[in-house]
Amino acid sequence: MWIINRSQPMLETLPLLNDALADPKSEKPMQPASCQNETRSIKPEILVAVGICTHLGCSPSAKFKKGTEDGMDASWLGGFLCPCHGSTFDFAGRVFKNKPAPDNLEVPPHMYLSEKRILIGEDKKGA
Ligand code: FES
Repeated sequence: MWIINRSQPMLETLPLLNDALADPKSEKPMQPASCQNETRSIKPEILVAVGICTHLGCSPSAKFKKGTEDGMDASWLGGFLCPCHGSTFDFAGRVFKNKPAPDNLEVPPHMYLSEKRILIGEDKKGA
């Protein structure tokens, strides 16, 4: 399970990528209703996601640096690379178009019990 504290610059990349993504509005049911938004999260800065590629189940790697610094191409704005077959995901776990992975990374049901405590597996509706 990934819990990632995204910086403001990371969040600012999200609206720039919509045309390059397979499901930019998260229309497929890969997240609870509470996370069907641009950041795919309850709190904009905190991403809770299952770190398993939706292609064949490898674990994507963090490629958080822009451009070629992390071995990606010059247009890369940061996100995740699945090394198995090359699927790429943005900082919201949204998959890029024309990649083997068919879906965005799963965001599980979760809820905040307090400012710093997250319960994963349930949401406020008891899902
Ligand atoms: S398992 Fe991730 S791209 Fe194939």
